Formats: sequence, structure tokens, C-alpha cells
Amino acid sequence: MGDKETIVVIGAGVVGLSTALQIQQHLTASQSILIVAREFPNTTSINYTSPWAGAHYRPSPGTSAQAIREADQCRRTYDRFKRIAAEEPASSIKFLEGIEHLEAPPPEYLDATSRKVAYGHLERYRELSRDELPEGVKWGTRYWSWTLNSPVYCAHLLRKFILKGGQTKEYTVTNLLEAFELASNVKTVVNCSGTGFNDPKSFIIRGQTCLVRNPCSVTLTRQLADGSWSFCIPRPLDGGTVIGGTKQPHNWDPIPSPETRAQLLENASKWFLFTPESGGKFDVIRDIVGRRPAREGGMRIEVEKVGKDSNKTIVHAYGAGGRGFELSWGVAEDVTLLMLENRLLHARASL
Ligand SMILES: Cc1cc2nc3c(=O)[nH]c(=O)nc-3n(C[C@H](O)[C@H](O)[C@H](O)COP(=O)(O)OP(=O)(O)OC[C@H]3O[C@@H](n4cnc5c(N)ncnc54)[C@H](O)[C@@H]3O)c2cc1C
Ligand SMILES: *[C@@H]1O[C@H](CO)[C@@H](O)[C@H](O)[C@H]1NC(C)=O
Ligand SMILES: *[C@@H]1O[C@H](CO)[C@@H](O)[C@H](O)[C@H]1NC(C)=O
Ligand SMILES: *[C@@H]1O[C@H](CO)[C@@H](O)[C@H](O)[C@H]1NC(C)=O
Ligand SMILES: *[C@@H]1O[C@H](CO)[C@@H](O)[C@H](O)[C@H]1NC(C)=O
Repeated sequence: MGDKETIVVIGAGVVGLSTALQIQQHLTASQSILIVAREFPNTTSINYTSPWAGAHYRPSPGTSAQAIREADQCRRTYDRFKRIAAEEPASSIKFLEGIEHLEAPPPEYLDATSRKVAYGHLERYRELSRDELPEGVKWGTRYWSWTLNSPVYCAHLLRKFILKGGQTKEYTVTNLLEAFELASNVKTVVNCSGTGFNDPKSFIIRGQTCLVRNPCSVTLTRQLADGSWSFCIPRPLDGGTVIGGTKQPHNWDPIPSPETRAQLLENASKWFLFTPESGGKFDVIRDIVGRRPAREGGMRIEVEKVGKDSNKTIVHAYGAGGRGFELSWGVAEDVTLLMLENRLLHARASL
């Protein structure tokens, strides 16, 4: 059959790593897989978002096509995470109570249908009764959520990929077609580059958080009357707790603001359930600034034919915004399905 085919995945963030692992399950003996990325989990960079994430799961109600698609991807990720949490303790995934307190709930939170789309699949879901709501809070819920230690989780995914025979190459792709020249006989390139470079719909949303040593046993999110969100996310496997966070579209400032840090911590001491020993004081590990790779209308998951006779295929999977971990396995499955439909992968009789 000649040259062995190489499938190239660009990107080693949570989207690229999950997608590469999912594709690996479908490779035939004549196919191999290579992740090409500017950054891998053994490094940090302001433009490599995944290791800066919280990361927890907080459903987002809505009735738009994007909201419905994302809710479905989140549900599948939730189910997959249950299995991984049980079977792979080193993944850092931990299930715990998630609590939401909203001071000014937007309409989609008060509409039973749109709430069901997002929250319907959760274990232990219940809305808080009036006397359970803290001062100033109009609507609240609790449910069984998950949290993970993002740098540890990404390193774990990469380890699994390599163990299963995956190859890696540290390289910055600057041209669309170049990716097809990075290995022998490349027919398919999967584009998990986060923000990418020249999609006018892509933009970044800056997030500043503060990582503290203080332990916290739940992940709590409070929506403030001004529409901003405040949250605490424990990082399992002794990773401390992330207190956040800002959402600043198009803001490229890489330097953490000391004023923002002070506000985050002050707010957190009022609202979050830290242990009494904390005494409202925080033991800061570091400030974090990350760039969420957002995209108008949500992720681009799409096949594009390129090359002379359109004989090469790019499968795009970028633009996860603030939800890359929550969506990850749903996206990985959707990309794999697209590849099966386009005969870039071949269905196995059974897995
Ligand atoms: C403060 C903060 C908190 C967050 N909290 C959460 C949370 O609680 N839950 C959640 O689900 N999400 C959260 N997120 C969002 C999450 O971090 C992102 O959605 C996710 O990391 C996006 O992953 P990605 O793989 O698409 O991109 P990235 O992690 O940015 O990875 C992109 C990859 O592509 C590579 N790449 C890019 N361009 C090129 C090129 N030209 N050539 C070669 N390689 C290239 C990069 O090197 C990298 O390997 C948070 C983000 C921030 C900033
Ligand atoms: C991050 O990306 C921006 C925009 O592409 C670029 O100008 C900047 O140099 C990058 N920073 C680093 C540290 O790579
Ligand atoms: C980081 O990992 C990548 C991919 O496995 C590898 O190519 C690179 O050499 C590593 N870099 C360092 C500094 O270890
Ligand atoms: C990946 O997507 C980005 C858009 O964000 C684009 O600029 C880039 O050319 C794509 N890369 C490949 C190899 O298709
Ligand atoms: C802190 O809380 C106030 C409202 O009490 C809010 O306006 C502000 O945005 C919050 N700051 C941060 C950084 O979350």
C-alpha cells in the first residue's frame, strides 16, 4: 500500500490533545498520528491557554443553536469525565458540588426550557429555595459538577497519547498548506490551534485570576448585579484554588493588574466558602492571565478541502472560548465523526 499515512493534529491544548486521543482509537495499521504544536504541556506561554484555565464545569443555559450544541458537547464530556475520574486518578478530574448564586439572573436562567437544555443531565441538580439564597442573590442552584487541575490534566492527556504510539513535533505553522509537508503522506490536518491566525471571527477574551493555597471544598460561582462573574475553583491533586475572574474581550494586556487581584480576593472573602482557618486572608501562589480563544458563533468544526485537486482535507476545531475543557470530549467525538463520514478514518467493527 506504499507510504504509511500520517494524520497531523495542530495544537496541544485541551482540544488538540482530546481530539488526537479520540482519533487514535480509529487508526488502522497503515495510519499514524502526529501532534504539531508551538507549545506543549511542558511549557507555558500567554498564547497557550489551556494550562491557565480553572477549570470547572458550569452549564450555560440558552436556546440558540450554539447553546444547544455546546450543552450536548458538555453532557458527553461530563459522562466521559465520570469514567476518567473513576479509572485514572492521575488525570486530576474530581467530581464535587457546584453552586451558583445569581444576583441578576438573565432571562435564560428563569426559563424552564432553556434551563433544562443546560442542566437537565446533571446528577443531584436542584434549585435553591428562597431561604437558602444568600443576601442579594435572586436565583441559585447546586449540582454535581467536576473540577480539574488544568496543567496536570493536559500533561496526563499527552502522556496517554505518547504511550499509545502518538508522535509529537514542536513547530510553529505559518501557512495553511505547510502543515501537509510536516510528515510523510499527510492527507488530513486537524486544526486545533485555539485562536489560529486569520479568521476574522476569532478574538480573545482576557481572563485574570489568582491562584491561592487556601483549600475550598466546592466550586462556587456568583454572578454580580453588574453582570460580571466571580468564582472559586479548587485544583485537585494539591493545586490550590483558582479565584476569578475577569472576562475582557479584545484585551491583550499580558500583565496582571494588582487592583484586579485585590478586588478578586476581597470579593472572594465575602462570598466563598473557605475554611474558617483562612480567616478571610489569602495565601497567594501567583496571578494568572490567560487568553480565551473565542469565536463569534462558537467553535468552527468543519471540513475544508484544499490543495490542487482538493485532494487534501483540513478539519477545523478551534474557537472554544471559555469552555474548552467543558466541551472537550464532545468536540473530539464530533471531529472524529466528521472524519468517519468523510472517509478520513475507518469505522471499527467494535472498539
Ligand atoms: C482564566 C481562565 C479560566 C478558564 N476557565 C475555564 C473553565 O473553568 N472551564 C473550561 O472549560 N474552560 C475554561 N477556560 C477556557 C479554556 O482554557 C480554553 O477554552 C481552552 O484552553 C482552549 O483550548 P484550545 O486547545 O482550543 O487552545 P490552547 O490551549 O490555546 O491550545 C492551542 C494550541 O495550538 C497551538 N498553536 C496555535 N497556533 C499554532 C501555530 N501557528 N502553529 C503550531 N501550533 C499552534 C498552541 O501552541 C497550542 O498547543 C478558561 C480560560 C481562562 C483564560
Ligand atoms: C502572542 O500572540 C500575539 C498575537 O499573535 C503576538 O503578537 C505575541 O508576540 C505572542 N506572544 C508570545 C509571548 O508568543
Ligand atoms: C516539550 O515537549 C515536546 C513534545 O513532546 C518536545 O518536542 C519538546 O522537546 C519538549 N521541550 C522541552 C523543553 O522539554
Ligand atoms: C487554522 O485556523 C486558523 C483560523 O483561526 C487559520 O488561520 C489557520 O490557517 C488554520 N490552519 C490550518 C492549517 O488550516
Ligand atoms: C467585585 O465585586 C464588585 C461588586 O461588589 C464588582 O463590581 C466587581 O466587578 C468585582 N471585581 C472582580 C474583579 O470580580
